[in-house]
Amino acid sequence: MSRVLVTRRVFPEVIEALSQRFEVVTNPDDTPWSPDQIAGHLAGCSAAMSTVMCKFDASVFERSPQLKVVSNIAVGYNNIDVAAATKGGVRVTNTPGVLDDTTADLTWALLMAAARRIPEGDAYVRRGDWKVAFAMQSFLGMDVHHATLGIIGMGRIGQAIARRASGFDMAVLYNNRTRLSEADEKRANATVVERDELLARSDFVVVMAPYSPATHHLIGAAEIAKMKRTAILVNTARGGVVDDAALVAALKEGRIAGAGIDVFEGEPKLHADYLALPNVSLTPHIGSATRATRMRMCETAVANLTAVLEGRVPPNLVNK
Ligand code: DGY
Repeated sequence: MSRVLVTRRVFPEVIEALSQRFEVVTNPDDTPWSPDQIAGHLAGCSAAMSTVMCKFDASVFERSPQLKVVSNIAVGYNNIDVAAATKGGVRVTNTPGVLDDTTADLTWALLMAAARRIPEGDAYVRRGDWKVAFAMQSFLGMDVHHATLGIIGMGRIGQAIARRASGFDMAVLYNNRTRLSEADEKRANATVVERDELLARSDFVVVMAPYSPATHHLIGAAEIAKMKRTAILVNTARGGVVDDAALVAALKEGRIAGAGIDVFEGEPKLHADYLALPNVSLTPHIGSATRATRMRMCETAVANLTAVLEGRVPPNLVNK
């Protein structure tokens, strides 16, 4: 019987499903293991199921010659050294498609929260500071309806975000490595533009690009300087795609109006100055966090892992 390592705590149903076919070893905690701990626990395992916080670097693959597959419970896989996996003959899989709508919903929640200053208003009410009702100039926010939304990274999630904009009568601009098909552009009601034009014209800039060395600090001081002073930046993609220090400086100096951020470089640690900024809405990397979606991600990961262990091509192979 093949032995499978699950590197983070997952739903009991998932362990139960895996246990019907495999011997399962699990990390019982939510705390991610270090690469060294992962390699240690992988002894005798031919498969691993992991999350984006579990780092599979080259040392893990070098120390695990029996490993056949790392099945990431995520669409992103920047936690895995894919080149080292491929070199070691290890398949890497991910879970695309099943979290698009849920992540698009959270992106909109952050966009709206930042635009209408919901966390600020909530804190104000809870503190007991609301003494005068309906003050004409208090808590003025940004209109979302009829505004321009710019999306950088127009994969499945980016397109799901764009489709939601029609309910708000928005214009949608996008920038992507490759242009969408005419049909997809039509469905998203989106117009392709150069990145600088998108930054200059958008009232809301959403970053939805995967993290890689090529997208490291894709949005930094120079890009933020091209945005409108009234604009809001939303990042639900990956920490590291946005330069947190540059964003914090811009928010402090009022160079843009606000931000909604779900992912951070080095999370769960985050740039300390974020916490004191009233014009940023913060969430703890919860883009895919609904029970139904997290279950679908786990089921997809189980299907990928099972396929490899049974000698089939997994549905979502990253290193083809
Ligand atoms: C992903 O799927 O890449 C998410 O960031 C994990 O929730």
